[in-house]
Amino acid sequence: MSVRIAIVGTGYVGLVSGACLAELGHDVICIDNDPAKIDALNNGRMPIYEPGLDELVSRNVKRGTLRFSLDLPASVKGREAVFIAVGTPSHPGTDRADLRYVMAVAEQVAPNIDAFTVLVTKSTVPVGTNREVQRVAERCLAPGQSFAVASNPEFLREGSAIEDFMHPDRVVFGTDSEAAAAIMRRIYAPLAQNGYEVLATEIETAEVIKYAANAFLAVKISYINEIADLCEVVGADVDRVAAGIGLDRRIGAAFLKAGPGWGGSCFPKDTRALKATASEHIVPMRIVEAAIEANANRKTVMFDKIEAACGGSVAGRRLAVFGLTFKGQTDDMRESPSVGLIQMLEQRGAKVRAYDPSRPAEAARMLPNIGIAATPIGAARSADALVILTDWKDFTECNLGELSDYMADPVMVDLRNLFDEDAVRESGFRQYVRIGRKTVGERRAPGNERRAPRTRVPLAVPSRHVHDKARAEARSTVEASEAV
Ligand SMILES: NC(=O)c1ccc[n+]([C@@H]2O[C@H](COP(=O)([O-])OP(=O)(O)OC[C@H]3O[C@@H](n4cnc5c(N)ncnc54)[C@H](O)[C@@H]3O)[C@@H](O)[C@H]2O)c1
Repeated sequence: MSVRIAIVGTGYVGLVSGACLAELGHDVICIDNDPAKIDALNNGRMPIYEPGLDELVSRNVKRGTLRFSLDLPASVKGREAVFIAVGTPSHPGTDRADLRYVMAVAEQVAPNIDAFTVLVTKSTVPVGTNREVQRVAERCLAPGQSFAVASNPEFLREGSAIEDFMHPDRVVFGTDSEAAAAIMRRIYAPLAQNGYEVLATEIETAEVIKYAANAFLAVKISYINEIADLCEVVGADVDRVAAGIGLDRRIGAAFLKAGPGWGGSCFPKDTRALKATASEHIVPMRIVEAAIEANANRKTVMFDKIEAACGGSVAGRRLAVFGLTFKGQTDDMRESPSVGLIQMLEQRGAKVRAYDPSRPAEAARMLPNIGIAATPIGAARSADALVILTDWKDFTECNLGELSDYMADPVMVDLRNLFDEDAVRESGFRQYVRIGRKTVGERRAPGNERRAPRTRVPLAVPSRHVHDKARAEARSTVEASEAV
């Protein structure tokens, strides 16, 4: 049975959740206090990049089950559930989550409740926050009205957010109130009917589940990253190690992809917040702390790799960078490993030109000194090395032979292990540096010996570098008009 829902905060989580809940048959109104966002949505434009979102939103807007509004007081009236889906960034200068946006919404919603409403926190909030939301809302409630709180953490991932919401590993909600639990069960009934697990818990348990899950995944990535460093030294291949351990059902294959470190709008702030919560309760959280530290060190490890590939220094080198967002299939640059690494490269004298398929709006503000190319070739042209920073599927569709031809020195540092080693070499790259794998002289498993490389350019030319530089410069003159 359809539930009347309002969602406050129409960002990555609020907008996707709103559109998916409408798709599940509910009557949804999404509210935001950013007029540009609501204006865009009311004119059929998506304020964020998320695969499939455009169609999902427009289908439900047409059906009349999804609307957008700036008017919070009017929009929460008559709603059975009001979701809070605003940001919970780190409190400036501390590791704690900044809850001011969550509490502001509780203050704004409570006086406008005109029938029993469940106030659902979907934002990621530290344990104890829902009790505080309850206190704040009680203080602001209109006389004679009633409500209950529920914690309903969200586990969707940017880039596959719709798939994750509609086909979740589990839904978790925690509440003390039977009436609230009944509404939550009605909201998620379409998923439960499709066989997805809906787990009802105490409020505190639901809050801790979210942080415990995110921190565990961050730990898993940091773990495989350190294993990758070992693989490089001893001649093992981290991708095969990950496959070998991932086949063990006790471990599982997910989140065992070595790379430049975790980032994004969740793992960094959520691990910090968990550490802060544990510290407030005087409980050691050493494993999460170690993962945070290992992840912070990752930038230097990655920088050293790029520097080595550039012959020992990046000073004066023109670097093509593929990927600015914290992972593929999103336009989100919040705490992206690309940002810190590019800043470090710039500080050491590199000139960076980047390409990202999502054209993130934040790029010019966060990295004002880099060039932004509109195409992969626009970034690669005349470059001394190509650095792959984000795991965009689009990169694997690039014509590597063409890319290498455009580069001054065809060197690739692939910090996401996106490509097949042989394919890269056969495409004219003279050096292919990966994560968790020796670049030269590595041993290969029997039966997997490397094929002879295909010759793309005359090897008789003594310095391929000089030869290609001339070619690249000639191309850059001819094609200087190509927009980047
Ligand atoms: N992004 C993710 O992948 C993801 C996944 C799971 C959980 N979460 C959690 O969900 C929460 C939201 O994250 P997000 O990435 O969607 O954030 P976001 O910054 O994309 O969106 C938050 C939105 O809330 C709006 N807002 C803030 N205060 C408001 C108010 N008083 N009234 C109306 N609108 C208001 C902002 O304008 C913004 O559009 C965070 O706690 C985050 O940790 C995020």
